[in-house]
Amino acid sequence: MCGIIGCAGRDSETLDILVHGLSKLEYRGYDSAGVALAGDGLDVCKTAGEIDDLRAVLAERSPAGSVGVGHTRWSTHGPPTDENAHPHLDCNRDVAVVHNGIIENYQQLRDDLSTAGHEFRSDTDTEVVPHLIEDALADGADPEDAVRAAIGRLEGSYAVSVVLSGVDRIFAARNDSPLVLGIDEDSEARSASEQASGDEPRAAYYLASDVPAFRDHTDRVVYLADGEFVVAGADGYRVTTLDGGPVEKTEDTVDWDPEETGKSGYDHYMLKEIHEQPRALRQCFRGRVDELAGQVDLADLSDLSPRGIHLVACGTSYHAAVYAARLFQQAGIPAQAFLASEYATSTPPIGDALVVGVTQSGETADTLSALREARRRGARTLAVTNTVGSTVARECDHAMYIRAGPEIGVAATKTFSSQIAALNLLALAITSVGDAREVISGLRDLPGAVQEILDTSTAREIAETYRDAESYFFIGRGLHYPVALEGALKLKEITYKHAEGFAAGELKHGPLALVTGETPVFAVVTGDDEQATKTVGNVKEVEARDAPVVAVTDGASDVERYADHVLEVPDTHRRVAAVVANVQLQLVAYHTADMLGRSIDKPRNLAKSVTVE
Ligand code: AGP
Ligand code: GLU
Repeated sequence: MCGIIGCAGRDSETLDILVHGLSKLEYRGYDSAGVALAGDGLDVCKTAGEIDDLRAVLAERSPAGSVGVGHTRWSTHGPPTDENAHPHLDCNRDVAVVHNGIIENYQQLRDDLSTAGHEFRSDTDTEVVPHLIEDALADGADPEDAVRAAIGRLEGSYAVSVVLSGVDRIFAARNDSPLVLGIDEDSEARSASEQASGDEPRAAYYLASDVPAFRDHTDRVVYLADGEFVVAGADGYRVTTLDGGPVEKTEDTVDWDPEETGKSGYDHYMLKEIHEQPRALRQCFRGRVDELAGQVDLADLSDLSPRGIHLVACGTSYHAAVYAARLFQQAGIPAQAFLASEYATSTPPIGDALVVGVTQSGETADTLSALREARRRGARTLAVTNTVGSTVARECDHAMYIRAGPEIGVAATKTFSSQIAALNLLALAITSVGDAREVISGLRDLPGAVQEILDTSTAREIAETYRDAESYFFIGRGLHYPVALEGALKLKEITYKHAEGFAAGELKHGPLALVTGETPVFAVVTGDDEQATKTVGNVKEVEARDAPVVAVTDGASDVERYADHVLEVPDTHRRVAAVVANVQLQLVAYHTADMLGRSIDKPRNLAKSVTVE
């Protein structure tokens, strides 16, 4: 999920190029870093922490080699420790592998390799790869075929880059994880030192998860597609399918300014992260859902069988918790969501309830403190978090990872969607829901539905129309109530405008007094059930007070008749409609803040991780 850089053909400059490339990938977020250089031998340096920590390790000893790979890790399997940092090695220390993504079948591979005598040094899924390559080499394969054979055994998502002792080439492949080749065959563009030395100019190649890692050296790129395999050395590069079939590739020229590339061409991390949601959702489901059997497998979590559930969380994560409480209630488990900062003073008897902390960062002080209180009272605890190795994951009895990838923007976007996706999986795993198959197929369609919104949304026009409003209301019912809360939080957080989210039925109990022709009301209404009909009634109430209404709807009810504008969402399963509707509201908040010139990624007074109570 984080960063890879590889380099062939720059000889003595390799190490500097790798470390510089890693520093250009820092924006992606990471928790450990490392490099491996191959020449006559193989040398590896890696550490938990930041690039500066890696530089400190490298200051003690500088590995050398004609080819090399570097990695910034964002842990998914095993906490951020020196041992778990990449590159990973085989038993003989002849093969070094860096990997982004998740290998779904790693446990089976690891068991088989261990039985065959391989010794593992880390907790990662990645480490199976060098051992598989080691086996293929031992069977007589040449380095290229050994790497192909090993990668061919992987299921899941990966960008993998490999160097081997005594081999002056890099091998790489991808499946559902980005990888791009940088090509520098132009002697003019080569380093001054090389020009001065009078050496015959040779080609240099870079392999990276994103262009900024090598953009200072070349603007010529080949974007690799899933299932493709590349070999690069000083004498050229070759792209084939994984099993060696021919592939036609065209080169592109990148004209971005290197300074802008950290956001992959987006103006803000928030917008980039909004657009990453389809991929983040797929990553969350990966290897956990058996569609044919209509089952979700969350390993030991599937046996939790709680009699009741308390969810504790803050901010956006609290909204995901409110949503989840409704899910669990619908499945017959008494469940309640609590603001973590209030939990200690308002804790009802916990009994044998499972206490679930929902927290993107895993470091939010209020949430940690609520969970500690629950543990003090003897409760079992589960962390639902994005951050492997975080405090919450270490302190709770169980952890479930939402796998959204790092989120840099202070405003939570993709992590909210992935929290809802993960909590849906949890509900399917620990309750017996009658329509499990339908829900699973709804989850399967969710990334595509989100993509459709990203491709067609008219949120920017809505933002333009209402950018000068003083106050905004958001209303929704049932599973859409937390979407109303979240829509309002996102807008107030990044535009600095007043916004409130309400349960649609509550408006008439007070807030309606504030509704005028100047108060845009965003109404989230999907489906045409009783809930939708009632919300349409609430829309009529605000329409009668001249409030402009923006309906976020799939068109199943007649809400459009009473709305001034419509933000369309695809027809989805009612369990996932909240996610798609929320994406429209994320875009409204983003575009409004953009038009107002706000500091979108770092809103005033706010921090990404709130580590004080
Ligand atoms: C969301 O946009 C906010 N930045 C904030 O409400 C956040 O969700 C809250 O602080 C909880 O953070 P956590 O998920 O890391 O615990
Ligand atoms: N799954 C691997 C790990 O946990 C790779 C994570 C990444 O993409 O950085 O080490």
